[in-house]
Amino acid sequence: MENHRTAQISGTGSYLPANLLTNKDLESLVETSDQWIRERTGIVERHIAAPQEATSDLAFQAARQALDAAQLSAQDLDGILVATVTPDQVMPNTACFLQSRLGCKSIMALDVSAACSGFLYALTIADQFICSGKFKHILVIGAETLSRIINPTDRQTCILFGDGAGAVVLSANTNNPSSKSAILSSSLGANGSLGDLLSLPGGGSRLPFNQDVLDQKLYFVHMKGREIFKSAVRTMSDRALECLNQAQYPLDKVDWFIMHQANLRIIEAVADHLNIPKQKILTNIDQTGNTSSASIPILFNQSIDKNLVQRGQTILMAAFGAGLTSGGILLQY
Ligand code: ACO
Repeated sequence: MENHRTAQISGTGSYLPANLLTNKDLESLVETSDQWIRERTGIVERHIAAPQEATSDLAFQAARQALDAAQLSAQDLDGILVATVTPDQVMPNTACFLQSRLGCKSIMALDVSAACSGFLYALTIADQFICSGKFKHILVIGAETLSRIINPTDRQTCILFGDGAGAVVLSANTNNPSSKSAILSSSLGANGSLGDLLSLPGGGSRLPFNQDVLDQKLYFVHMKGREIFKSAVRTMSDRALECLNQAQYPLDKVDWFIMHQANLRIIEAVADHLNIPKQKILTNIDQTGNTSSASIPILFNQSIDKNLVQRGQTILMAAFGAGLTSGGILLQY
């Protein structure tokens, strides 16, 4: 078996559903205001999937773009990893729906469940498969239809979340061995003892669907926002620093920082904590809200399309999410 030593991003894509839900719209649905949402979160609008759109439909659009950008066909893929907490169904997994729709060979198709850190978990797993020499091309996706699991009457959560999908194709660096593009380092972690800060308690094996689950609305996300805020700043900073330490890469040499788009104030707090210049921080939270595992790959793809992120540049990504999970990846694009 060939031993591919590094993996590079060969293409990216993203998809946001057409329907927009603005802060103004939310003013008529719950007791809130455009000003409160902007000041506390930085969010102005978010995209909401149409009733007939499921997570794999969003993922499919992002995947097609990423494959085109990589100049690959679905038949070239050796595996698909879909990070999501909003699968089409509990089974089959969302990656299998996507594998069928894309027309791939009978390749590995797996969902990764690590909430908002899911994409960085999936990218790290894909990197291992490629660096070990087992696979050449893996499609890695973060895709969510969070609007399906948010209580539209809970003003603490319904203002935060949106739907979308982002994709990358990760490829073995064999065609162009002189290229320095690679995943440079990765850091993953979790603190399960804080799991109750953000959870969807109903519908699993502990609380299967019954009348009680329905009456108490336990099929929706339940969140303790203020506590998550503090932990998010600490863990994203830790993951970012760990990536830099592992790669022996100085922070001031990083070209761009892409953090999970959960709240602009969390991003700014991490930037203050690590002393990151504001102009190096990419954001789109004003237009997307929190799209969980999709947030980093959507922003990555948009920043490439805008010609901000360019080949050869270094990007540090960091995320936190329910679990509480956290992740970081340092990569050269
Ligand atoms: N509109 C108006 N007022 C509101 C709203 C709203 N939508 N929501 C809460 N308030 C009120 C509260 O009731 C409270 O009122 P009180 O002082 O009279 O009690 C006041 O605003 C302040 O509430 P806080 O919760 O302290 O507000 P905070 O500044 O912490 O902002 C927020 C809340 C935006 C949720 C913030 O804590 C946050 O972003 N936390 C992180 C959440 C997060 O990122 N979750 C996703 C994790 S990633 C994943 O895995 C999905």
